Amino acid sequence: MKRTKVKDLLASTQPMSDVTAKGWVRTFRNNQFIALNDGSTIHNIQCVVDFENTPEETLKRITTGAAVSVVGDLVESQGAGQKFEIQVKTLEILGDSDAEKFPMQPKKHSLEFLRDNAHLRVRTNAFGAIMRVRSVLAAAVHQYFQEQGFVYVNTPIITGADAEGAGEMFQVSALDMNNPPRNEDGTINYKEDFFGHQTNLTVSGQLEGEAFAMALGQIYTFGPTFRAENSNTSRHLAEFWMIEPEVAFNDLHDNMDLAEDFIRYVIKYTVDKCQDDLKFLEGRLIDEEKSKPQDQRSEMNLLDKLNFVLENNFKRVSYTEAIDILRDSTPNKKKKFQYVINEWGADLQSEHERFLVEKHFKSPVIVYDYPANIKSFYMRLNEDGKTVGAMDILFPGIGEIVGGSQREERYDVLVEKMRKIGIDEKELWWYLDTRRFGTAVHSGFGLGFERLVLFVTGMTNIRDVIPFPRTPGNAEF
Ligand code: 4AD
Ligand code: MG
Repeated sequence: MKRTKVKDLLASTQPMSDVTAKGWVRTFRNNQFIALNDGSTIHNIQCVVDFENTPEETLKRITTGAAVSVVGDLVESQGAGQKFEIQVKTLEILGDSDAEKFPMQPKKHSLEFLRDNAHLRVRTNAFGAIMRVRSVLAAAVHQYFQEQGFVYVNTPIITGADAEGAGEMFQVSALDMNNPPRNEDGTINYKEDFFGHQTNLTVSGQLEGEAFAMALGQIYTFGPTFRAENSNTSRHLAEFWMIEPEVAFNDLHDNMDLAEDFIRYVIKYTVDKCQDDLKFLEGRLIDEEKSKPQDQRSEMNLLDKLNFVLENNFKRVSYTEAIDILRDSTPNKKKKFQYVINEWGADLQSEHERFLVEKHFKSPVIVYDYPANIKSFYMRLNEDGKTVGAMDILFPGIGEIVGGSQREERYDVLVEKMRKIGIDEKELWWYLDTRRFGTAVHSGFGLGFERLVLFVTGMTNIRDVIPFPRTPGNAEF
């Protein structure tokens, strides 16, 4: 008989006879009660085994982690907290699980231990919930842009362009690296690679996205991006997913409006669809907060925090205003900023970003018009000649969640900028073509998908919101 998902069984409006459920045993109590989970929901369904008529041999094999199939009647449950349970008529063990050896014991495991078992951690409540929320957020991203008439564009993963001009790329090679062809000076001759030149994994689909926006009007990408930055932080991955909309004829302020509307939409969509998972994650967070000293605890519960974002506009400040605020502030009575901003032109450090968001504005903040020399080459130079039309969106507990800008659409200004910082025009000839033929004002941004998942799930380490995190020293799975 076809199985019914646990989620659907629990949502049933009436008892049913002879249903089939399949899943993994979370716990087995008193030789009688199986808590069965099949991943469709955070909730387990209780399966009551007729232990008097079940062979001892079978009962012994009902262990945490085992895969089982049960057939029985869905009846109203006497137990607290569940509407229905299954009175089991027949039970089949599909796959045994050695109770002694199964790493996911029915107890609280540390996040570090779970990271070392990324292939099994998804069988825990927390990771099941996180991965379902992640999936719904991804659906929301497509839903938003499709509703607004954006075209979904798949930009290349292997590319010859360094979109951010930051040099943090993973090289791709189709050469025999045991015996690579070499130039006279001993360096590897990538011309002999079948791509004919050096290639790398993309750091961003923006440049290709711009070319498409210059034909399709409004486009978005949603794909994996790669950064070979050797930073071991709770906010950085070497492989992460980025959403990059690009819109012709939008200026910087349209860009901010779009980003804000988009973020609100996807959070609302997910809050509406993932109530059970988010309530579970909120509970998890409350437990975690209890173990912290009082003054370090978050003032808001997870769902309050999400609702706050839905109900309040993000604060918008220029970089120059932000620097003035920071210069006049001390983050707390005892401590000054470790790194004090005295000079206009310095980049904001994460402690500054946190101060602006968590202490000063107590709200998500959009900082715009950054100094040109700390931002990427493609951002539009403002009339003052020293700032660019950039915008970063900063979120509580996360820091930068979005980076975007109005693009430099003027051919001459762009070429001049590239020359100044030594980007070879020849390498980006195709990008420059977009400015040569029918250039127009346009803007876009990139949202780091995992940082969004962090915010929505209330998790604090980015390694815990992607199935198999890629970080320095971690690519085992
Ligand atoms: O600020 P970034 O580097 O901007 C770009 O790549 C632009 N080309 C985007 C655009 O305008 N189309 O990255 C954008 C966002 C960041 O705000 C952050 O959320 C995320 O991507 N991000 C990372 N997330 C996880 N791990 C990393 N190493 C990340 N680097 C950036
Ligand atoms: Mg950035």
